[in-house]
Parts: sequence; C-alpha cells; structure tokens
Amino acid sequence: MSAQSSDLPIRRVDSKIAAAQARARETESRMTDDERFSLVISVIGAVPLLGLSRDERIPEDVENMSAGYTPGVPRLGIPALQSSDASMGVTNPGYRPHDKGATAFPASIAVGSTFNLKLAREGGAAIGREARIRGFNVQLAGGINLMRDVRNGRNFEYYSEDPYHSALFAGEAVNGIQSEGVISTLKHYSLNCNETNRHWLDAIIDPDAHRESDLLAFQIAIERSQPGAIMSGYNKVNGVYSSGNHHLLNEVLKNGWGYPGYVMSDWGAVGEWNYAMNGLDQESGAQLDVKQWGAEAFADQLKSAHAEGKLPKARLSEMVQRILTSVYAVGVDAWGPPPLVDMAKHNQIALEIARQGIVLLKNDGALPLDANKPLNIAVIGGHAQEGVAGGTGSGAVLPVGGFAGLMKIGGAGTMGEMRNLYLFSPSPLAELKKQIPNAQFDFDPGYTPAEATLLARRSDIVIAFAIRVEGEGFDSADLTMPWGQDAVIDAVAAANPNTIVVLQTGNPSSMPWRNKVKAIVQAWYPGQAGSQAIAEILAGRVNPSGRLPITFPESLEQTPRPELPGMGTPWRTPVKIEYNEGAEVGYRWFAKYDLRPMFPFGYGLSYTKFAYSDLNVTGGDTVTATFTVINTGDRDGADVPQLYLTDAAGDKRRRLLAFERIELMPGESRKITLTADPRLLARFDGRAGQWRIAEGIYRIALGESADALVFTADVRLKGRLFGQ
Ligand code: BGC
Repeated sequence: MSAQSSDLPIRRVDSKIAAAQARARETESRMTDDERFSLVISVIGAVPLLGLSRDERIPEDVENMSAGYTPGVPRLGIPALQSSDASMGVTNPGYRPHDKGATAFPASIAVGSTFNLKLAREGGAAIGREARIRGFNVQLAGGINLMRDVRNGRNFEYYSEDPYHSALFAGEAVNGIQSEGVISTLKHYSLNCNETNRHWLDAIIDPDAHRESDLLAFQIAIERSQPGAIMSGYNKVNGVYSSGNHHLLNEVLKNGWGYPGYVMSDWGAVGEWNYAMNGLDQESGAQLDVKQWGAEAFADQLKSAHAEGKLPKARLSEMVQRILTSVYAVGVDAWGPPPLVDMAKHNQIALEIARQGIVLLKNDGALPLDANKPLNIAVIGGHAQEGVAGGTGSGAVLPVGGFAGLMKIGGAGTMGEMRNLYLFSPSPLAELKKQIPNAQFDFDPGYTPAEATLLARRSDIVIAFAIRVEGEGFDSADLTMPWGQDAVIDAVAAANPNTIVVLQTGNPSSMPWRNKVKAIVQAWYPGQAGSQAIAEILAGRVNPSGRLPITFPESLEQTPRPELPGMGTPWRTPVKIEYNEGAEVGYRWFAKYDLRPMFPFGYGLSYTKFAYSDLNVTGGDTVTATFTVINTGDRDGADVPQLYLTDAAGDKRRRLLAFERIELMPGESRKITLTADPRLLARFDGRAGQWRIAEGIYRIALGESADALVFTADVRLKGRLFGQ
C-alpha cells in the first residue's frame, strides 16, 4: 500500500502564492509594530440598529462603510481592507445611505440546486464586480457549513448537505469573486451547523468523521479556489471555540493542508487574545467582541501579551504576512480601473440561477399550465401580489429600488432586530400575468382558510404561494409553514383539486397537504428575478431542472436529532449538540438506516424524460464511470446524472462521487465520463493522519437521485493510504 502522488490532495503553494508570500515577508519586515497591530483587527461600520456608532479607526473620508474596516499602510502600498457580506450579493444593512442597491441573487441553496458550477462562478464574479465598484476588497462569501439539520436557520446561505457538492459550489463562487481581484472567505470554519445559541454552542463530533464531512468540504474548496481568508465560526468544536481552536486552525488547516492565507474570526467570536496563538490571524468586528466578551481581544490585550513576551514576534509577523499574502495573491493592492458593471447582465445571471435552481417536487400533470386556454387562475397567499421572499440576517441584500416590502418579525438575541421578511419585486402575480396573458387572474391574500376557499372554489386552477422567513440567529422550531399557511393550502386544495403550491423557504417543510395538491414547486429564496423564473416554469417557457441539495425528510423523526438540543432555551444558554451522525449527513444517514425520505437528495422533476444506458465502471486507484444519457421525452431539458458509492468493501456507505448537468434536445444522447476524488471512497484514518482505502469490492451506482439508483456495477479498488 503506497500513496500515489497523483492522488495526493494538492498542497497549493503554487508559484503565485510563493511569490505573494515572499513579497509579504519583505513588506512585513519593513512595518512598525503599530502597523502590524492595526492590520490584525477589523472594525464594523456604524450600525444604528445595533447601537454601534462610527468607530474612530474608520477615517472620516471613508464613505463606503461595511461589515469590516482595517486601516491600510499607505507608505508600504497596503490598501485598507474593507469587507462586505456576501454570498447573495453585496449587502447594506444601513451602512451606506447613498448606496442605491445591489443585485439580489438567489440564495446559495438555490445555486446548489442548479448543480451547474458555471453559474456559481458567474454569480461569484458578478458579486465580485459589484463589491469592487464600491471599494470592497474582501467579500465574506463562501458559506460552506453542511446542512446537517433541516431546522438550521442559515441553510439557505449554504450549498448542500454533501461535502463534495458543497466544496465544488463554494469553490466556484470564490473563484468568481477572486477573479475580480476581491478576496473571498470560506466560512464558517467549522460546524456552525445550527443557530440556536450559536455563541454557546459546543458541536461534538468524532474527529475522523469531521474530516470526512465538514472539513472535507473546506479542504476540497480550498484546493480548488485558494480563498484569501477562512472565517472561523462562533461555536465550539469538541469543547474548544473554533476561533481559537489550535487543532482545527493550526494542525489541520495550516500545517495539515498547508493553507497559506489568513484566518479571520466571525463578528463577535473572539473572547481571548491567545486565540492568536491557536491560529487566528485577524479579529473581526472588534466592537462586537466588546459587546459579547467585554473587551477587544486583539487590541490592548494582544499588545500587552506581545510586550510580556507571551505573543512571540514571529507569530505576530506570521499573522501579518498571511494577510499580506492574500492581498498580493488576489491582487487587492493592484486594482486597475473599476470593472464595468452591467446590472442588466447581472439580473440575467440572477434569473438563470433561479430558473435552474427551482426544483419541481411533484407534478400530477398540472404543469406546465396551458398558456393558450382562457383559464381562471387564483393566486393565493405568500404576498404573491408584492414579491418573492428572501432569507434574513447579515446576508440579506438591499436590491436596486428597495424592497417591495419589509415586515419586522423580531425575536430574541442580537439578531432579533435584523429578523425581517424581505420581499423582492416584481411580484409573482405580475410575472404570471405576463407569461400567461390569456388567463384571468384573481388574487386572495390567504388571510384565512375560509376566505381563500371562496376564490379557490370558483377558479379553474389555484396557485398557492407559501413563504417562511428563515435566517441568522434562529433555527426553526419545526418544519411547518408560519402564519397558518398550511391550513390555507389544505383548505384551498380541498376546495379545488387543481392546486399547485409554490414554496419559498430555505429548508424542507412538512407539507401535510402534499397528497391533496397536484404540483409542488420548491423555489427557495429565488432573488430579484425569482418571480420571472417561477412564472416561466409554471407556464412551461422554462423546463425545470433543479435538483435538491438537501434531503426532505418525512418528519423530524427520521433525522439524526428529532429534538434539537437547546431549542427554546434563553439566549446565552450553553448548548451541546452531539453530531452523532458523524459523516453520515443527509442522504448518507437515510441510506445507512434504510429510511425513505419525502424527497431525496439529488431529486427534481422535469417536463421531459431521460434514460441511462451502458454503464461501465473501472476501479484500481479510484473509480471512473462512463455511461450514456438520452432525452426520451419531447422537449429540451437538462438532466443531472449522479454517481454514488453504495458499498465499500463490505461497508454499507453512500457517497456522492460525481455528477454532471447536461442539456439535451429530444432524442439527443451524450456519453459522460465521471471520475471520483479518491477521498470519497476512503475513510480518514486519524492515527495515520491519512486517507485509507480498504482493498476490496466497491459498488458504484448511477442514479437520478440518492434514492433512485438505476444501474450498479462492482469494481475492485486497491488498498492504500494517501493524502492528508
Ligand atoms: C455572520 C457572518 C457575517 C458577519 C459579518 C456574522 O454575524 O455570522 O456570516 O459575515 O456577521 O456581517
């Protein structure tokens, strides 16, 4: 058994990074200690909502305030670092009154649903350009926590429940952003997979399982995109805060994977100066640490530690050098003229992500609607006369022209003030009227089941819209829809069998009415062009092709934690969540225990049909599969064939190995070849500190989803130990 050099995860100290490191060392050697200390801290812009006034470290002439500001060192050509959120567009939670708004892209979960990496990169590049014209050189994007819990309020900011899928999508988003000369983070390292009391959350996990799941997502995304920064999470991992976690930051990230960039904390996540000794390079949103922990950790405390010899000079230098390495590698110091920002083109990218990210979950022949018939269509609920919903929290984007509607919801904790229903125009109702001009539309707000029934009864078709606001700082208590919407859908479906439901959520929902309705469309938070995409799909102008990046359980009983520890406890209550499922997250868990979900990972319907043939799989060092996909239906469409491991040398184990999204015309076929990253076939052997493939027979399946496997093939893999 020997490591194959071709399979070793690449330790990316390539020539560009090496040159940036050399420059960083040289610049840093010419800095004063005051300059060094000022670079390892960032302050948040004034947020009146949170009671934060303008920090004196932000010079008066800085107009573009945002989530983070770190003064530069002009005499050495080091620019100020200005960071903004993030993954769904450039945010503005009140920092910049004169900013007219940015493109509000669909949520990351919708990007993940496209299974189209090109769109993740295009979206990232568009966000990078919009950041750059505002002077932001750090984008706090790349949310990559795995969706371990269907109640997690921030799942909409993440890509999927699968580490490989997540890594590819986050990696492409980062590549897009950084291609515009803007540093991107990957966040939140690691296991900030629930929001409940997140500052006091201790995420317990077996270290090897962690390597095979959330850490593998970071590892692969880092290899593929070389993000300038990693943002550490609020939570503890195995008893130690992530932002000061020597094992995760020094042993795994920096020494193990050779990560050359810098680690910044989340905002208000640094309790002690000695996090610097444990691998943290920059304290973010320092004023929030004062609120949370009573003091800034990297200001006076870090200086005193240095003066007393507790923080060695070499470590301070390294912190600064890592920041400068990313500045130089991404080219933040060498910006040319601002890029051209074509907002119409960015809207088109947002639209394309929404079109490809919306998932058709059920269709008993109701869709697409017949656009030629003079139908009476009832549009009910979900503020569908106003706009589409977005997620809430630091990632919420103010669109050009403002929100179509904003309703304060509120709640406990520091994020309660920011917990809002945001609506983005145009409205689904207006877009449906455009797409189906021959129909007669009536709207009912879904105010009560009885009232909604009156309209449903006298309509040919009902399109019921339902929304749920999910977001930062809050986990959902259950999977129902708020504000009595389930009861409204139930009532209208009873009154009219031709009911179609469109869901805007950031997670699965319980859908108690699902057997009574004809069609279900999962639209996620589809962004500013979301209404158009929904209407095009309902009208059949666009053939749905989104696939679920998260398993929809029948109920919470099927999930690893029917009860969420800490749910309902007051803010500041210590919470311990044992992620006992280990690496068996999402569909892996369902496969392991033979559970049938409501809708599986990778699932999504189309208006056409596809068939697979000629599966041929080879083994050896890794798995390579070839097969043919044909569009057997009568319209153009896109399919996402998926390759899974189902059995590894006698160990029942499901892993997504690879996938590809392909567009095919009726009758058209294509031969596809997919090769697995060998780490997905291996287990992490903590004692050896390497990946281990056990010699034996591996069963590989070609599937339409994690639960609909069409063909299988057995191959032999060589036993070996490799990588890190
Ligand atoms: C969030 C981060 C975000 C930061 C800055 C925090 O509350 O957890 O994801 O980037 O705020 O706004």
